[in-house]
Amino acid sequence: MQNSPVRMRRLRKSDSMRRLVKGVNLSVDNFVYPLFVCPGKGIKKPIKSMTNCFHFSPDKIVDETKEVFDLGIPAILLFGLPEKKDSKGSHAYDDNGTVQQAIRNIKKAMPGLLVITDVCLCAYTDTGHCGLIKDGKVDNDITCEILAKIALSHAKAGADMVAPSDMMDGRVGVIRKSLDENGFIDMAIMSYSAKYASAFYGPFRDAADSAPAFGDRKTYQMDIAASAKQAMKEIELDIAEGADIVMIKPALPYLDIISQAKQRFDVPIAAYNVSGEYMMINTAAQQGVFDRQSAIIETLIAIKRAGADIIITYFAKELAAKKFKL
Ligand code: PBG
Repeated sequence: MQNSPVRMRRLRKSDSMRRLVKGVNLSVDNFVYPLFVCPGKGIKKPIKSMTNCFHFSPDKIVDETKEVFDLGIPAILLFGLPEKKDSKGSHAYDDNGTVQQAIRNIKKAMPGLLVITDVCLCAYTDTGHCGLIKDGKVDNDITCEILAKIALSHAKAGADMVAPSDMMDGRVGVIRKSLDENGFIDMAIMSYSAKYASAFYGPFRDAADSAPAFGDRKTYQMDIAASAKQAMKEIELDIAEGADIVMIKPALPYLDIISQAKQRFDVPIAAYNVSGEYMMINTAAQQGVFDRQSAIIETLIAIKRAGADIIITYFAKELAAKKFKL
């Protein structure tokens, strides 16, 4: 008698059966929602390059974060715009800066919402670079000292976690030391560990007004064609320096890196579904290329399946709000 074929379709027979055996679950619990804070009062202004994203002033952002928290999203990631840029990016570590004001307002209204802050200089320097310039180059060690000042200033304002996104060598260690010395031993660090010099940040640079005035970010962000081993080394170093969570960014073009990092390291892995990935879906859907909701879910499932424990995504709010079938 001939063997009957292995019938894989048995487990795909109905919606309930597919649900029963599915291996990947998206949950609002693992979403981080990025938000942009600008100087001023009473401002909620659409960001042209990013559909459904806004610049909020530190007073107006409170209502937005209330909504986000009520929807069940546990954490936000804050990006700031300064009143004015200078060569030292000094607004970034001003205790009364836009981000610092926003942190205080948000934590006062909602102590339970996790406030994560992006720690970088590109939106604050007049060169648009993520570090300070010395002899025409982005200087690593001077920048690390400034980053530690920024992180400390965010900690003093009440942030729960800092996320350095500059890609200087050794900055996680310098930030950890400074936080510890100043009593912030409980402050977590989510490091942008494997961050690539990617084309997919285009819409964000418009939103944060942070495009470099000269050159590019290739001397500090990772080469798009670097070996996976280089990414593992970056992550390993950040963990050794004290990173509590490590991040891979962007997400979709680097799913292999997410997957390898998940297998290799024990700390939570975050993936940043960046602005270009977000707008790729929005613009394609707008042109009728595919069903928007299905494309969003499929994308986020792919990121989760690759191994991301945490997904930072501009889709978080609408996913939570519309109660898409996650
Ligand atoms: C700052 C920073 C960038 C992003 C997050 N932090 C831009 C960059 O490195 O140029 C990109 C986020 C996005 O595209 O959604 N260094």
